[in-house]
Amino acid sequence: MIPTLVFYSQFDSFEEWQALLAPLLPGVRICQAEDVDDPDSVLYVLAWKPPHGFFAPYRQLQLLVNLGAGVDSLVGRDDLPKVPITRVSDPDMGRMMAGYVLFAVLRYARDIPAFERAQRQRRWHYLHPRLPSSVRVGVLGLGELGAYTALELARQGFDVRGWSRSAKQLDGVNCVNGMEQLDGFLASSDILVVMLPLTAQTEGLLSAERLALLPTGSCFINVSRGAVVDQQALTAALANGQISEATLDVFDREPLPPQDPLWAMDNVLITPHLASVAIPATGAAQVAENILRLGRGETVLHQVDPVRGY
Ligand SMILES: NC(=O)c1ccc[n+]([C@@H]2O[C@H](COP(=O)([O-])OP(=O)(O)OC[C@H]3O[C@@H](n4cnc5c(N)ncnc54)[C@H](OP(=O)(O)O)[C@@H]3O)[C@@H](O)[C@H]2O)c1
Repeated sequence: MIPTLVFYSQFDSFEEWQALLAPLLPGVRICQAEDVDDPDSVLYVLAWKPPHGFFAPYRQLQLLVNLGAGVDSLVGRDDLPKVPITRVSDPDMGRMMAGYVLFAVLRYARDIPAFERAQRQRRWHYLHPRLPSSVRVGVLGLGELGAYTALELARQGFDVRGWSRSAKQLDGVNCVNGMEQLDGFLASSDILVVMLPLTAQTEGLLSAERLALLPTGSCFINVSRGAVVDQQALTAALANGQISEATLDVFDREPLPPQDPLWAMDNVLITPHLASVAIPATGAAQVAENILRLGRGETVLHQVDPVRGY
């Protein structure tokens, strides 16, 4: 029996992942579900949002790799196999995410939206530049992507604060943790960046009441999951100016429906959930390393805890 890795994704290229994984995993057959001859040979699955029942034929499965960082659509499933689950985690994914957030933060810190509006009116609109150190940027979530981003922002000289579940130490970042710190954290964020996973604890975390704690005129960036935020309350806060600007990559419904009021707001920048993606060229090495570790009887890296939800 040849050990088999089954790939599934409607967004990622099978051919690209196969070409990169094959030389790293000699002796492992890499194929798509329809090409599996013997379901009992399937020891590994590399998948993004596979359909319900996908895992059922693979009774010998040893490892499930989520083809992305966010596992919210996976861990809540009632057909999840009882095997270790890992996520794609590579520095390029962190760099891509940090680049997106850095762009959004700099755009606000340098008042670019005000200049964009002034230009449309052919108006010379001088606003004296602020020092980055005078801008308080709060990063909610200091995981693989959040920590990378917070450090990148700190390197740019911003006054960076980070919030997570457990205590963290990051150079140049003022880290706090736990629910009891959240309200004060929000109240001291001129720019808030949401980088939390969607879990039972974080769903709806940024409620109308919590959004109201942000300083008047603050800016809001969400690159995690739409459902972490009360989107209606966010829309209302953007309409009345309590939140002055938002960059939104994720929404409670995706694609964002054409009739959603956010589309028409000129203080909102919308991108279609692409702040960061799994990058095969670097991700493949990490996926292969975990499969090789499993073969050597070692514990796999970047494991997800389905109970914790991330
Ligand atoms: N828009 C996109 O294109 C895109 C791309 C990739 C990922 N994402 C999203 O980005 C999210 C974050 O990615 P990541 O790799 O940085 O996640 P991660 O490594 O799983 O880290 C999650 C962070 O959130 C913190 N956290 C979780 N639950 C919390 C709670 N209840 N209270 C306080 N802090 C909590 C964790 O705290 P501890 O450190 O204490 O555990 C950790 O710091 C993903 O889950 C995904 O939803 C979006």
